[in-house]
Amino acid sequence: MSVLERERRHTSGVYPKRDVELVRGRGARLWDADGHEYVDCAAGHGVAALGHAHPKLTQAIATQARLLVTCPETYPNDRRATYAARLSDVLPGSPERVFLCNSGAEAVEAALKFARLSTGRTGVVAAKRGFHGRTLGALSATWDRKYREPFAPLVPGFSHVVYDDLDAMEAAIDDETACVLIEIVQGEGGVHPGSAEYFAGLRRLCDERGALLAVDEVQTGFGRTGRLFACEHHELVPDLICLGKAIGGGVPMGAAGIGPRVADLPVGAHGSTFGGNPLACAAAGAVLDVLAEDRLPERASVIGAWLLDRLRALDSPLIRDVRGLGLMAAVELRTRSTPYLRKLLGARVLALPAGPTGIRFLPPLVIRREELSFAVDALARVLAEEA
Ligand SMILES: Cc1ncc(COP(=O)(O)O)c(C=O)c1O
Repeated sequence: MSVLERERRHTSGVYPKRDVELVRGRGARLWDADGHEYVDCAAGHGVAALGHAHPKLTQAIATQARLLVTCPETYPNDRRATYAARLSDVLPGSPERVFLCNSGAEAVEAALKFARLSTGRTGVVAAKRGFHGRTLGALSATWDRKYREPFAPLVPGFSHVVYDDLDAMEAAIDDETACVLIEIVQGEGGVHPGSAEYFAGLRRLCDERGALLAVDEVQTGFGRTGRLFACEHHELVPDLICLGKAIGGGVPMGAAGIGPRVADLPVGAHGSTFGGNPLACAAAGAVLDVLAEDRLPERASVIGAWLLDRLRALDSPLIRDVRGLGLMAAVELRTRSTPYLRKLLGARVLALPAGPTGIRFLPPLVIRREELSFAVDALARVLAEEA
C-alpha cells in the first residue's frame, strides 16, 4: 500500500490530500520520495519562515532535546523565562505578559477567554472573510460558512462585519463587546490588507467603548509582511495579540501577548499541558535570533515587493487582481483556483488557496529570487495552458 493509501485509511479523512509524498526540505526547496525537487511557496501554511532544516533552528532543537523537552509551566524553566521575556520585548507595545500555547487556534482561544475575564462581557466582533482557527471559540470568530455550519450552534455573542469598514464596526461594538478580533491582513480570506485609518479607528473605538482590541497575527507575525509584526505598519498597539505558525519555525507553538489594559488573570483561569515547553521555547528563540541576524523582515519587504511586481506583470485574462504585503501575496483568478494549484504542483511549485479563487504565496522568508522566479514562470505557464 502506498503512503497516500495508508494515510487515507488511517488518518481522520478531514484533509484534502495531494498525491506528493514530501520527505525532505532545505531552505525553500522540498523533495518528494521519488527525488523530485519542488519550490516551496507554502512553507507548511506559512510556518517555515526560516526555510526547512535551518542549521541554527536544528541545532537549538537538538541541544534542548538533550537537556529537557517537557516542563509544564507550574515549574519555572530558564528556557521559557528567557523566551517569554524576549517575546514580550519585541511585541508591539512590549506587553509584559505572554501566554504560551501550541497553535494559532489556541492563541485565539486564550485571547477570547482573557477578554471575557477582563471585561466581564461576552460579545466578540470579528470580520467577514476573517479566519481564526477551527476550535469552537476560534471557529465562532471565523467567517466562512463552510467551516461553521456543520458545527452549529457555535459560541453565542459573535458578530461579523465588513472588513476595513469603520462605520460597520462602529455600529457593531456595544457595551456587551468584550473584544474586537481582527487580522491586519486577512490571510485565508484572500490576502486583503486593512488600511491605516481602519486600525487607528478601531483602536479609538475600542478605547471609547471599553472593549479590548485583539489582533490575530497568527499568519502575519514574525516577519511575513515585511515588519516583525504587521501591527508595526500602522503603529498599532493591540491589547491582545495572537501568534502561531512561524513562531517556532515548525515546532508547534502559539502565544498570546497580553497588554496592560487586560486585567490580572487569576491563577488557574487557563492553562495547557504543553504550553511553553522548553523545546518549543528553544526553537522560538532561534527563530527570533535568525529573523534579527539575517534581517528577514526587511528581506521579506524587498523581495515581496519584487514578487508583487512580477505577479502584476503577468498577462493573463484569468487574473482579476494581485494583492499582497511583504512575502504574503495572492493572485485572484476569475475562476476557482484549485485546478491551477494542482497544475502548479505538477510544475513542482507548492502554493496555497486564498478564498475560493485565490492562489496564495507564503514562501519561507529566505527564498531566493531565482526560486520565486521559477514559481512565477510556472504560474504563467499554468495559466496560459488553460486560457
Ligand atoms: C489568521 C489565522 N488565525 C488562526 C489560525 C489558526 O491557526 P492553527 O491552524 O495553528 O490553529 C490561522 C491558520 O491558518 C490563521 O491564518
